[in-house]
Amino acid sequence: MNIITDPKELQKQCAAWRRDGLTIGLVPTMGYFHEGHLALMGRARPLCDKLIVTLFVNPTQFGENEDLDKYPHDLDGDSAKAKSRGTDLLFTPKTTDMYEADHATWVDVPELGKHLCGASRSGHFKGVCTVVTKLFMLAQPSVAVFGQKDWQQLAIIKRMVRDLNIPVNIIGHEIIREPDGLAMSSRNAYLTEEERAAAPAIRKGLVKMAEMVKNGERNTEVIKTFLYNEYASALPIGTVDYIEIVDPDAIEPIEIITGPVLTAVAVRIGKARLIDNILIEV
Ligand code: PAJ
Repeated sequence: MNIITDPKELQKQCAAWRRDGLTIGLVPTMGYFHEGHLALMGRARPLCDKLIVTLFVNPTQFGENEDLDKYPHDLDGDSAKAKSRGTDLLFTPKTTDMYEADHATWVDVPELGKHLCGASRSGHFKGVCTVVTKLFMLAQPSVAVFGQKDWQQLAIIKRMVRDLNIPVNIIGHEIIREPDGLAMSSRNAYLTEEERAAAPAIRKGLVKMAEMVKNGERNTEVIKTFLYNEYASALPIGTVDYIEIVDPDAIEPIEIITGPVLTAVAVRIGKARLIDNILIEV
């Protein structure tokens, strides 16, 4: 596996591969790999000739009081894991190589960023869209895989690719979980033992509320109140950032359920802000 840090070198390598008729698959990440990241690599591997994994903790998607400086990293461990899943090239650029001091161009999909993480992390998706566009321009992949754990991010990237005619096939991969149901996340590393023991309640609450919908409840206010109460009793050390029930594509809140809906939550437990979601088809 080749490791490249220079964006121009990546561009040259990818151009050479494409000239040779080879297709490129891309898995963008911020590193500190767990089985969720590795599943995306496994999904992309058979869909392309050359698999590129990018590892870049993108500063423009972090707010001022967020964890940019503390974000966990382990380049040696990540390289070994990416290699073990058949990655051909790991791209690990420096911030100064990705963003010129006078960087002035941004990509944004504000229509889909009004709720959920778009509302609670101002500017977050503008940073995500901009860096993902840059990665698409550098590698020009025919396929890219993203996780459904970040459902809103996936919906926004799909819309961006459609609206800007970017010639890449976006694939969404299901959420990979710990045996007790907690969605895998690099940020789980922030949890103390006690917090980690409480965290599976996030998923348990989502499963219970999905049962409620399956049993006929259609009023989302009633369902959200139920979930708030579940979290209030099961997560005494956590505080709910948001609980929302939205249209899975438009990411707009729904009052009365008549079709498929996404319930998305963000919860702060200690130093970690954890997200999870469940798609409910009715
Ligand atoms: P990061 O949080 O490192 O996640 C990289 C990819 O892994 C994303 O597509 C995310 O949805 C996926 N992922 C994370 N945990 C997962 C899980 N438990 N199951 C399945 N997929 C999971 O998301 C980002 O980085 C950044 O915003 C990025 C897209 C790289 C842009 O900077």
